[in-house]
Amino acid sequence: MKAICYTDDRSLEVREVPTLTEPAAGHVLVDMEAASIMHGDKFFLTHPLPNGTWATALHDIYGTNGAGTIAAIGEGVPERYLGRKVAICKALKPSAETTGVWCERAQVRYESCLILPDDLQARDYSGSFAHIMTILSFLVQAKAEGHRGIIVTAGSGATGLIAASLTRRLGVPAIFLVRSEASRDDLVGRGIENVLLTTEADFPQKLQDLAARLDATAVFDAVGGELIGDMIPALPNGGTIYVAGIMNALAPTTFSTMHVVEKNLTIKRFSLLETETVLDPEKLDAATREVEALVDDPLLRTKIGKEFPLDQIDEAMKYNSSSWARAVLVVR
Ligand SMILES: NC(=O)c1ccc[n+]([C@@H]2O[C@H](COP(=O)([O-])OP(=O)(O)OC[C@H]3O[C@@H](n4cnc5c(N)ncnc54)[C@H](OP(=O)(O)O)[C@@H]3O)[C@@H](O)[C@H]2O)c1
Repeated sequence: MKAICYTDDRSLEVREVPTLTEPAAGHVLVDMEAASIMHGDKFFLTHPLPNGTWATALHDIYGTNGAGTIAAIGEGVPERYLGRKVAICKALKPSAETTGVWCERAQVRYESCLILPDDLQARDYSGSFAHIMTILSFLVQAKAEGHRGIIVTAGSGATGLIAASLTRRLGVPAIFLVRSEASRDDLVGRGIENVLLTTEADFPQKLQDLAARLDATAVFDAVGGELIGDMIPALPNGGTIYVAGIMNALAPTTFSTMHVVEKNLTIKRFSLLETETVLDPEKLDAATREVEALVDDPLLRTKIGKEFPLDQIDEAMKYNSSSWARAVLVVR
């Protein structure tokens, strides 16, 4: 079968690799329909993980997020997965037998799959599962750490829209920060409430008032940089900034540490793969079933910018959309 594989010098190439026919125990074979190219796919291709390891995959096949139909299930996999459309985030449950998903038929652990309703298009969710689990596991962690309401930066991005969907469905008070009037109008037009424009002169005061009113003390920050310094004076007592994204992380920021002292603020890293929701098998199963029940909201769909066949991987990796829509590799 055709697959996109990584090379020793961390470039990508299209190769012919053996087609898998017998799934390993605990794994499923997925006839891939589409796979999204995410920020992480580009970043980790050229940047080793902090511990120096390079996540390997069977047959060196690359790619983490995709969607397709389960063709076969291995020993120990629940019957309900067989023949179903699924969205995949292969990183949720790594294994030595897992392939990447940028190929015609992938092998992944069944826990890395989200069963989709039959009437949804699999490719519309080819980049969604990781983001959905990110927000769900963040909500679980924030609640466990004593927070009631949340603040979400990059409100117009994929995780922002998913946060809008899940907080609305789960009744969690939420504030969404965007940096352009166009994004604010877009979110308001989708019925999303509590949208603040970070470029307005009175943004800090508006954030302070709204965060206090909604008891929004947990920040899911996908941006970093200056915005952190802008938010800190406005956060309520006990606020925590969970640094989850790096869109502007290289930009320095300034804030008075007196705010930290006075309000007992915390800044820490957030990573989906380090959450209890993902690391505890029972919690991962429960969360996945919860997502299955919530997945029909259009806000959770992957925003597809342009579709590319596997052969055009170089063009696909270079694709950038001004509206942050994804390049999607289409297999069938
Ligand atoms: N830690 C985790 O587990 C985890 C999981 C999922 C995602 N993430 C991270 O979250 C971040 C967002 O990913 P995504 O896929 O949701 O985004 P996306 O759909 O690609 O959209 C990008 C978003 O970032 C905003 N943005 C970009 N540069 C910005 C800047 N300099 N200042 C303010 N906003 C800026 C964009 O705002 P405009 O619309 O105004 O351009 C847009 O809302 C990424 O860094 C991603 O790696 C982390």
